[in-house]
Amino acid sequence: MADRKVAVVTGGARGIGRGCAHALAERGFDLVLVDLLAPEMARTKAELEAMGRACLTFEADVADHARAKEIAAAVEAEWGHCDVLVNNAGKSNPRTIMECPEEEFDRTIAINLKSCFNYIQAFVPLMRKVGGGRIVSMSSLNAHTGGVTSAVSKFAYASAKAGILGMTRALAKELGPDIAVNAVCPGVIETEIGNTLTRSRGAELAKKIALGRVGKPQDVARVVAFLAAEQPSFITGQHIVIDGFQWEI
Ligand SMILES: NC(=O)c1ccc[n+]([C@@H]2O[C@H](COP(=O)([O-])OP(=O)(O)OC[C@H]3O[C@@H](n4cnc5c(N)ncnc54)[C@H](O)[C@@H]3O)[C@@H](O)[C@H]2O)c1
Repeated sequence: MADRKVAVVTGGARGIGRGCAHALAERGFDLVLVDLLAPEMARTKAELEAMGRACLTFEADVADHARAKEIAAAVEAEWGHCDVLVNNAGKSNPRTIMECPEEEFDRTIAINLKSCFNYIQAFVPLMRKVGGGRIVSMSSLNAHTGGVTSAVSKFAYASAKAGILGMTRALAKELGPDIAVNAVCPGVIETEIGNTLTRSRGAELAKKIALGRVGKPQDVARVVAFLAAEQPSFITGQHIVIDGFQWEI
């Protein structure tokens, strides 16, 4: 067992990823953040360091397969291994199928789904160096519902997020028993992605959520930390919906 507990969070600069980084830092993990946004990532790094944790940051596009391998090599050189990978980076892309150019579809799949392939393939060898680890990937309620009926379709995003659920089940079998692979499916969460919806329709949405409010990044981070850090000993290949039970939208 290595002394240092290492967690990688993609898209860790802000929003849900930042929340996950904080929750894992509270549980004694040192963090590796991967994001496109250097200034936001520097802010989050400073917050984690103020909590007494170490943090490595990498400015990168998660869709870039070769870059994921480079980052894994750098983490291995610095800290030797990895215990937890949170595939959080993602971007929603409202666009109807008839208006969606091929490259936009490819890019949405690359950011939201291929990124999971990139980082799992790069970091599993570092998990195996310490006998195994935990992977949690960020799917979405959209994978189940297809999205909000009254908003512009996010069919490409929903496709990618549903793909994560299939990948999670398949890899739970392939990578077990030493690596547990799970996913979470947030509903409406107040972040940059969620904000257009929460700002314009927050009060209206809250009425349609059983728990009477939209979610916060910490609501998702707590569940990710449970799956990643509390080491539930018999849960893999599953997803947990975190939506306050959102039945009408
Ligand atoms: N907020 C919601 O309502 C909601 C609901 C369901 C699922 N999600 C998912 O949760 C995850 C986090 O979203 P959020 O709401 O915190 O959004 P956010 O935009 O606040 O944060 C996303 C982070 O990912 C980073 N990122 C985006 N594309 C990237 C790329 N190509 N390479 C590297 N980094 C990249 C962004 O820079 C940002 O820091 C996403 O996968 C999103 O799809 C969010």
